[in-house]
Amino acid sequence: MDSKSKIILAAIAGVALVFGYAGFSLISKAGSQRSQASASTTPVRISGQAQIGGPFTLVNHLGETVTHEDFAGKAKLIYFGFTYCPDICPTALQTLNVALNQLGEEERAQFQPILISIDPERDTPEALALYVSAPAFPDNLIGLTGTPEQVAAAAQAYRVYYARIEDEGSMAEYLMDHTSVIFLMDQNDQFADLFTDGSDPLTIASRLQYFLQEQLIN
Ligand code: NI
Repeated sequence: MDSKSKIILAAIAGVALVFGYAGFSLISKAGSQRSQASASTTPVRISGQAQIGGPFTLVNHLGETVTHEDFAGKAKLIYFGFTYCPDICPTALQTLNVALNQLGEEERAQFQPILISIDPERDTPEALALYVSAPAFPDNLIGLTGTPEQVAAAAQAYRVYYARIEDEGSMAEYLMDHTSVIFLMDQNDQFADLFTDGSDPLTIASRLQYFLQEQLIN
């Protein structure tokens, strides 16, 4: 096992530990390793306080500095990725769009989808602005980037792994290996659920509705 595989496995083990959730899925494009979560219609259950998420300071796709407090009062669907990603990120964002489109307009309005770039070197606010406007992605998708330090801090808060992979044969020069998970954070920035590349849009939609129902009860 090479060191990269060890890092990836350690990342999987770390997140699985945090969630007590064995089906965590992480995809390594470079290594083509894939552990697929079994599709489940029940939300991820966690005991106690999940140490996922936290304060962040980043720059939005309009070039404005924002913090977690700018999204207070809204449920957030947070995905870490990058605009040069050939497949994993676009697929995840399209899947999220299909899921959100299953919801009624009022339900959908309660979720703020956010893409946080883990490739700040190339993902300028301008690049993100173009990317998030893709018709196949959620209408109100917000792109966030920042300094490498700001991005690293945000990724660390969400236990997201990412690493630069040289790809000299391609125009892109390098790719980013990264955790591919959509985090659902509630109105108070508390972790509520997560969706992996194994989650289908209908399952995501039903879990988002379940989340809204729980919010009404509690
Ligand atoms: Ni990606």
